Amino acid sequence: MVKSHLMLVHFPIALLFVAVVFEVIGHLRGREDFQKAGLYTLLAGFAGAVLAAFTGKVAEESLERFLTRRPGGPALLEAHEIAAYATVGIFAAILLWRTLGRRTLRGSVLVAYLLLAAVGLGSLGVTGFLGGEMAHPQGRGAQAQAAAAMGRDADGD
Ligand code: HEM
Repeated sequence: MVKSHLMLVHFPIALLFVAVVFEVIGHLRGREDFQKAGLYTLLAGFAGAVLAAFTGKVAEESLERFLTRRPGGPALLEAHEIAAYATVGIFAAILLWRTLGRRTLRGSVLVAYLLLAAVGLGSLGVTGFLGGEMAHPQGRGAQAQAAAAMGRDADGD
């Protein structure tokens, strides 16, 4: 199940970002084709997020003892899980909103929609970042360490 999780996580990350781009173009320009594409991509991305959360939960059970021995492991695992559930919840609300009201969004309703979508994508980004930090502990701080060894700051100046 760990392998399935690591394979599946790419789908919600890619599809949900693309869905919001389609939706933004669709509503700002009043293009129904983009709105439709956005809705289908949102559906596929949401299904991917639910599958990622399910496989992640099963993977957690088999990896828990191993992960909790890594430095920062338990906190990262917990934060990753919370961010993942928040992401699923926010996109469930967005999907419900878009399925029930299929009209072009305008004015303050569009602004509210965009804010919710931005929070959802932020939460998805945090979920992915924390997952990567957990899966690749050897990469944590590697850039800063390499820069320090070369006597530079992390930006290479
Ligand atoms: C929206 C749902 C989720 C997304 C997008 C997501 C994303 C990710 C990403 C990007 C990685 C790192 C993959 C890599 O670098 O190869 C990862 C690893 C992981 N995630 Fe998730 N995740 C989600 C839900 C969950 C949930 C609910 C759990 C349960 C606690 C979970 C547990 C794990 C575990 C155990 C790992 C592997 C750590 C390792 O291999 O050391 N994930 N996840």
